[in-house]
Amino acid sequence: MQIATTRDVLRNAVDALRLQGAGRIALVPTMGALHEGHLTLVRRAQELADHVVASIFVNPKQFGANEDLSAYPRQLAADAAMLEAEGCALLWAPTVEEMYPQGFVTNISVSGVSEGLCGAARPGHFDGVATVVCKLFNQVQPDIALFGEKDFQQLAVIRAMARDLDLIRPHVDAIIGVPTVREADGLAMSSRNRYLLPEQRTQVAALPRAMRAAVVDLESGAPVADRLATLEADLVAAGFASVDYAVLADAVSLTPLSALVAGPARLLVAARIGGTRLIDNMAVYPERE
Ligand code: PAF
Repeated sequence: MQIATTRDVLRNAVDALRLQGAGRIALVPTMGALHEGHLTLVRRAQELADHVVASIFVNPKQFGANEDLSAYPRQLAADAAMLEAEGCALLWAPTVEEMYPQGFVTNISVSGVSEGLCGAARPGHFDGVATVVCKLFNQVQPDIALFGEKDFQQLAVIRAMARDLDLIRPHVDAIIGVPTVREADGLAMSSRNRYLLPEQRTQVAALPRAMRAAVVDLESGAPVADRLATLEADLVAAGFASVDYAVLADAVSLTPLSALVAGPARLLVAARIGGTRLIDNMAVYPERE
């Protein structure tokens, strides 16, 4: 696996992959600290494309002033070994100066879908995500790109950006969401799980458990506001310090729903325990006849 750290080397490496035949190139963007969830994206990318390019870049623009960018786990050598073992062709690992050279002044802001939920608690976060992902798309020009559904709002923001900016590589329909990978007790895999103390790690299994129970009730016709209030209370009773949001939303626009409608819906939750903020989401289907 080749590792590119400058745009010139990346461009030559991507050109070389394209010269190897008419194969499709998949991009798996990451911030490193790889776990099974990321490796699942790489494996799905291998199934859908001929060459997989992964990127590792801890993007300062998506961290708020009160979020500790310097504490974000960095383990480039270990991550590179994992990607190589999975058969990645190329790793794009630019420095901050390479990604945002002196004088960089552009910001991509996707309104609507990026404003509620995590966008409300993390102002500027999705601008940072959209800006770096647009740059990654332009730099690698992949045929497809894969993102975890774990960050469901991020996926919706990236799709809206690709649609609105007429991105060709990847086209909006070639942005692929991959189902969340979970631990044995149901907890969604996340680089943040490593911050949990042992007792908290046991407590947080309540998040997917309580959400799954809420999904069953919502699908059976439980009144939405009441059921979401019960979900929040269940999480606090299980040891979460607070719940940032527990929302039923339209699965595309992420507009909150007060009742299930015909289209796909999503239950989305963010909750805090100790200094860690966990997010999760699950599909909710309208009551079946
Ligand atoms: O999900 C992530 O790891 C990041 O937000 C992404 C998409 C790589 C952009 O920095």
